[in-house]
Amino acid sequence: MRIIVADHYEELCKLSANIVKKHVQEKKDAVLGLATGSTPVGLYKQLISDYQSGEIDFSKVTTFNLDEYAGLSPSHPQSYNHFMHEYLFQHINMQPGHIHIPQGDNPQLEAECKVYEDLIRRAGGIDIQILGIGANGHIGFNEPGSDFEDRTRIVKLSESTIQANARFFGGDPVLVPRLAISMGIQTILEFSRHIVLLASGEEKADAIQKMAEGPVTTDVPASILQKHHLVTVIADQKAAQKLKIETYS
Ligand code: PGA
Repeated sequence: MRIIVADHYEELCKLSANIVKKHVQEKKDAVLGLATGSTPVGLYKQLISDYQSGEIDFSKVTTFNLDEYAGLSPSHPQSYNHFMHEYLFQHINMQPGHIHIPQGDNPQLEAECKVYEDLIRRAGGIDIQILGIGANGHIGFNEPGSDFEDRTRIVKLSESTIQANARFFGGDPVLVPRLAISMGIQTILEFSRHIVLLASGEEKADAIQKMAEGPVTTDVPASILQKHHLVTVIADQKAAQKLKIETYS
């Protein structure tokens, strides 16, 4: 696991966008795994700006998002589908057919999970998977206790995630869906050739320390990333402040 400590959030965004940009410049039909949440918003802003200045072309790129709330239609303002269009897709030249996000309002949710998993496999896996991390160590919606062998499936959100995400629902936790579809940990580990995990702010400091330096345990789902062959963690100083080993760049 390579850990890069960025001076601040803007640098984190720039560094992560450069990884994506360089890859897409070399492989025009790259497959990107994308994440929602506050952390990657600045990365997406930077990618939009790189697109506008002609440095990156998304016309042949394929994307797969990590997760989606169960029960929300793609057009629902709080759906991750809506989020991705608002913060990235509507501003760049992605082909709509190349965008993949689990369909949260599919009445056949189990089938939706299976189809999603098959779509990633048929795309040949994911070149770069962007991940955020929950304060509880989750990746995607793989909450503490999730099995490392899990594939894309229906998950129950933990109480801490419901509370953390209430800010997107007008601050009311009651409005946050209790279930979601999420790529599983095995899906992420097996399909991603390069994982880029982003963390900003002191509320992530414990999770980052446990992920990188603690034991590999299902109590901290992100700790399994210690076993992946190519992980780049980009954390700002606040998120990196509890790391003990001082050899990070
Ligand atoms: P955040 O979410 O970027 O909004 O902090 C990260 C996550 O929960 O994975």
